[in-house]
Amino acid sequence: MTITPAAEPRAARTFPQDFLFGAATAAYQIEGAAHEDGRTDSIWDVFCRVPGAVVHADNGEVACDHYHRYADDVALMADLGLQTYRFSTSWSRVRPDGGQVNKQGLAFYSKLVDQLLEKNIKPWLTLYHWDLPQALEEKGGWANRDTAYRFAEYAATVHDVLGDRVDAWTTLNEPWCASFLSYIGGEHAPGRQDVPAGLAAAHHLLLGHGLVVQELRKRDPALQLGITLNLTVADPVNPDDAGDLDAARRIDGQFNRFFLDPIFRGRYPEDVLRDVAGNGFETVVQPGDLGIISTPIDALGVNYYHGEFVSAKPGLQETTTAAPSERPKRSPFPAADGVYWHSRGLPQTAMDWDVQPEGLTRLLRRVHDEYSGPAGVAIAVTENGAAYDDVVLADGSVDDVDRRSFLTAHLGAILDAVDDGVPVTGYFYWSLLDNFEWAWGYDKRFGIVRVDYETQARTPKASAIEYSRIIGERAL
Ligand code: FCB
Repeated sequence: MTITPAAEPRAARTFPQDFLFGAATAAYQIEGAAHEDGRTDSIWDVFCRVPGAVVHADNGEVACDHYHRYADDVALMADLGLQTYRFSTSWSRVRPDGGQVNKQGLAFYSKLVDQLLEKNIKPWLTLYHWDLPQALEEKGGWANRDTAYRFAEYAATVHDVLGDRVDAWTTLNEPWCASFLSYIGGEHAPGRQDVPAGLAAAHHLLLGHGLVVQELRKRDPALQLGITLNLTVADPVNPDDAGDLDAARRIDGQFNRFFLDPIFRGRYPEDVLRDVAGNGFETVVQPGDLGIISTPIDALGVNYYHGEFVSAKPGLQETTTAAPSERPKRSPFPAADGVYWHSRGLPQTAMDWDVQPEGLTRLLRRVHDEYSGPAGVAIAVTENGAAYDDVVLADGSVDDVDRRSFLTAHLGAILDAVDDGVPVTGYFYWSLLDNFEWAWGYDKRFGIVRVDYETQARTPKASAIEYSRIIGERAL
């Protein structure tokens, strides 16, 4: 008889002492009360009315009704042990139509922040999570340079009221989505398909970011100012194939370097500028803009869901059996025509996104080595999470094993980066609650807390319970 030795008990992996555990949401995805207390349409309210733009014609009119339930939601965060909460303010609530200041809208965020502080939860505020006032879109939206200045004005209004209580300020969430996906791909509001407009939007978003950093820094040098980018690792399917290498370069260029280079180096990457030549981008960038955009920041937020595995030869897109409503994965970026996504054969989430935690370790190392490290800027993972088709058991509980292992695997990937010397200061799981997942409506559930949209009941899933344990022990 052979005796198998018992597995060595695995030593717990602990998190750095000041590492912050949190969860993230965004205004339009959870608040509801879309036309209450003076709020007017944002581009998402209008986009949701376009037939076919959002599945089941879902919208954020009620969403998770967080506008009325914020106190209970904060109590829930406290029960879970969250140390920080990343949320966004809605421009259309604070300055409806991009115009006059709306005291009632501001009062909501003021109460929310008070509630968080009372429970010892650090507010981590994002000023723009995609919900531009529709009135500003009608004046050209982000393709209009003036929107960058209106953004700085709105940011100052929010700071007037919350500046005494909020330290962590993020200008933009994922400008890639707010420009390329929205103004070129047409998949997000405002649903435009216009290459020069998308490129201009990207630049004006970055300009708005820089203007806000300058304004808030001037008001209070002690604030922690930053931006959140959706970054990725782009790997060539065949690293010996020049076409595949170029596909990976172009994807890296549009997702990562197009945003990181102006912020950290004060210039757009030459190769990407060559890729997009002929779209009028040269005339959009005015003298002095890059100096504003590269105004030093304190924190870089990294949103990571999965990497890209790309080739110059057809792959996934050609073989997919996805329903027609599920658009094939393609890039809205003008210079990425002829880039094909391939399968790595990894497990996938309900979004058909690869579960690829090692990509997060590589990404954090690279961003630290090439950008944030030399600038002395801290990194936080401001979004990471997974949608799964949750099953509610007879007792009402949700045993979301896949999400639980997604969470622990990615926290492990962060610790791998920390072990390699990357100073990661925090992690925000996306999302606290199941919520309105943009073009997917309520079909895709990312929450560690289930939301029953009929009753608005909140139920922490097994992943929430596991996260809570990890936070309590500060160890995996
Ligand atoms: C990110 C968004 C966030 C959420 C997740 C799944 O791109 O910032 O609002 O939709 O994806």
